[in-house]
Amino acid sequence: MLIAQITDLHIGFEEDNPDELNIQRLRAVLESLRALDRAPDLVLATGDLTDNGTLQSYKDLKAIFEDCPWPVWPSLGNHDVRDNFLGVFRDIPHSNGFAHYVIEDGAVRIVVLDTLEEGRHGGGFCDARAQWLDQRLAEAPDRPTLVVAHHPPIPTGIDWMTIGPNEAWAGRLADVLAGHPHVLKLVTGHIHRAISAQRGRTPVWVSPSVAPQVALCLNPITDIPDDRPLIAAEDPGYSLHYWDGTTLISHAASANHAPVLARYGAHMRPLISGLLEEKRS
Ligand SMILES: [Fe+2]
Ligand SMILES: [Fe+2]
Repeated sequence: MLIAQITDLHIGFEEDNPDELNIQRLRAVLESLRALDRAPDLVLATGDLTDNGTLQSYKDLKAIFEDCPWPVWPSLGNHDVRDNFLGVFRDIPHSNGFAHYVIEDGAVRIVVLDTLEEGRHGGGFCDARAQWLDQRLAEAPDRPTLVVAHHPPIPTGIDWMTIGPNEAWAGRLADVLAGHPHVLKLVTGHIHRAISAQRGRTPVWVSPSVAPQVALCLNPITDIPDDRPLIAAEDPGYSLHYWDGTTLISHAASANHAPVLARYGAHMRPLISGLLEEKRS
């Protein structure tokens, strides 16, 4: 099973510009997915779908997704507006006021969370959502399961984007995950960089963003400006999560057109054959 993840699209950042940079970056990512030698079974779009949560931005995004050859499953981030999202993406399941749902029909069961707390940059995960997650995970303890959220409940080393791993909501989420060892991984977005860490025993993946990336700067930050880079025009990014039947393998990828420096032609056969032989022996 191959799961693609796109995150932090921020459509509508340039309101009234139908050819805005973030739409160009989204189209580049979708083009990269189309060009893969193996098509994803589905695509997860993990929040900050839009920049301002306007109805028009969701309509623009839905039109783009409708042209995709794979099922696209969107979920919410802090820049989104739940009612507007659900008003446009009417097929997305929701319950008890939250756009959380389960994708059942693959080798990996996928539980998609709603960590939007409107008015907050950081995440939210109240008792009702924790109970819902606990119940969903308890339904299928024998199935390998991927949990999806926008906000990562981890330190990231990038101070100004870290959202408080010690906050109550993050602990609530971690407590539920800790009770279900069949959870393979928690995959998230929000930080706009590829990051791998863990919360308790649960591996946590942060996918690179479609919109511009957050600059890699690990120095502590204060409220005195130090001219550090904050946002960088790196290539639009995405993730591929490949389930081989035993392991969920996560790759960070970018939508660029890097020149190929080596191809598997006849001249490379000795090298490849040697590597394959070593694995067999
Ligand atoms: Fe974002
Ligand atoms: Fe976010």
